[in-house]
Amino acid sequence: MTAVRLAAIDATGLSLDALVVGLTGGKRDAKIDIPASSGLGAAERRRILDALRTLAVKPKTGEAIKLPGVAGVEAPLIVCVPIGATADEITPELLRRAAGAGTMSLNGIERVGIAMPGDTPAEVAATAQGAMLGSYRFESFRGAGTPTPVRGPKTVTVLTGTHRDRHVREAVRQAEIVAQEVCRARDLVNTPPSALHPKELAAQALAAVAGLDVTTQVLDERGLKRGKFGGILAVGQGSANSPRLVRLAYRPARSKIHVALVGKGITFDSGGLSLKPPTAMETMKCDMGGAAAVIAATAAIARLGLPASVTTYAACAENMPSGTAQRPGDVLTTYGGRTVEVLNTDAEGRLVLADALVRAGEDVPDVIIDVATLTGAQMVALGNRISAVMGNDDELRDDIVHSAAMVGEQFWPMPLPVELRESLDSPIADIANIGDRMGGMLTAGLFLQDFISDDTAWAHLDIAGPAFNEAAPHGYTPKGGTGVAVRTLVQIVRDLADSNSL
Ligand code: BES
Ligand code: MN
Ligand code: ZN
Repeated sequence: MTAVRLAAIDATGLSLDALVVGLTGGKRDAKIDIPASSGLGAAERRRILDALRTLAVKPKTGEAIKLPGVAGVEAPLIVCVPIGATADEITPELLRRAAGAGTMSLNGIERVGIAMPGDTPAEVAATAQGAMLGSYRFESFRGAGTPTPVRGPKTVTVLTGTHRDRHVREAVRQAEIVAQEVCRARDLVNTPPSALHPKELAAQALAAVAGLDVTTQVLDERGLKRGKFGGILAVGQGSANSPRLVRLAYRPARSKIHVALVGKGITFDSGGLSLKPPTAMETMKCDMGGAAAVIAATAAIARLGLPASVTTYAACAENMPSGTAQRPGDVLTTYGGRTVEVLNTDAEGRLVLADALVRAGEDVPDVIIDVATLTGAQMVALGNRISAVMGNDDELRDDIVHSAAMVGEQFWPMPLPVELRESLDSPIADIANIGDRMGGMLTAGLFLQDFISDDTAWAHLDIAGPAFNEAAPHGYTPKGGTGVAVRTLVQIVRDLADSNSL
């Protein structure tokens, strides 16, 4: 894991291998510039801008333009990252993306300095977090003979005039914890499904909170049978790798609110007997992205010592077709007794979540938030960068959209129209697991709502698209697992605790 440090802007003797420098302007007729607050001297800034002019490159946001070092800068390589704004338009998220694009572009380079504009706690922390997130690589499955192993920066040193400021240091410390947990979620998603069966995912959940003030419980197949968790068992019954239900409970001495987090943990989604076509299966190791997010967020919340009780459930199963798999037409009984007619075994996420949501309700939390790579319809509606949030409480839903924006994640509110609910009616059971295909993300949300008591505020985050980046890397977001929702979950728990401290 890449370490982050702070240093004075005029620090010497850091022996940097590369320096990332933020560029402002470049859009419309705004002149390309390096603001004085990035800490480089006037002469050095002029030399870098001259070099850019000589190369005649037109800086584009998201790019990383590499130059040989210039006199006065103690690094042999300079990486210019266009921020995409003038100095007075800069936001923390723009800094996060630009810093991330810088470290993302550097392979096999150990000590990287970052000189970006902005010296408030929020700005320095965003720069540090972006640099860390952009340094992430997933290389554990390369062979021994890999000719050029891909290595991200070892240390990132953020150069700032406020490196001694107590608030800046604390903001960076917290941003680093969150970045580490985002990277944990990415690792879990990127791990091949053969190396992350439900049992291993449960073990990883326990490892994530080892040594923290968190109590843990894992139900294996026997425990699930004893507890009558019919949804998780039915989804898992076709696989040789039996399902698990993980429970993590963080109970700080000072607690302002109790939040339950519930994650979909399908370690591989083949569709079951309602088998997916081959190309649709290629990315289905990502189907535990919701579980990864709630596990990592719980670890972050406990490490940060936030004053909120958190009870987290990860519903882990592998969805496979076999002679023991559930069939379209089967009826299962979920935890708590409601029955479901399974018409499509590929709508499995809602089945494992049904059990976990009812179980979470027994802890009597103030708020329940579930996170799931639940529907292809989410991607049709919002694409691969914007996640959806639905729920039974408009205020909570909008709070989540707001908390997400605060930390640079994009969530958009979606409705749960009551009139779609009847499409889930079953002629023989309490509910069917598929409804109207139109508005498929919403019917999935309505299905989940049946397992929530009306007097508990609940939100459902569908991260199907954003959990896994199949396209080119952008900003601090690599290919593969993105760790989406971790930052939002930490922030909403922070914000809910804050607003409850009256
Ligand atoms: N895990 C998938 C949803 C998904 C699709 C996540 C693409 C990430 C990328 C989910 O289990 C699923 O298969 N949903 C079906 C539901 C349908 C059968 C009602 C879907 O969306 O097609
Ligand atoms: Mn599925
Ligand atoms: Zn799935």
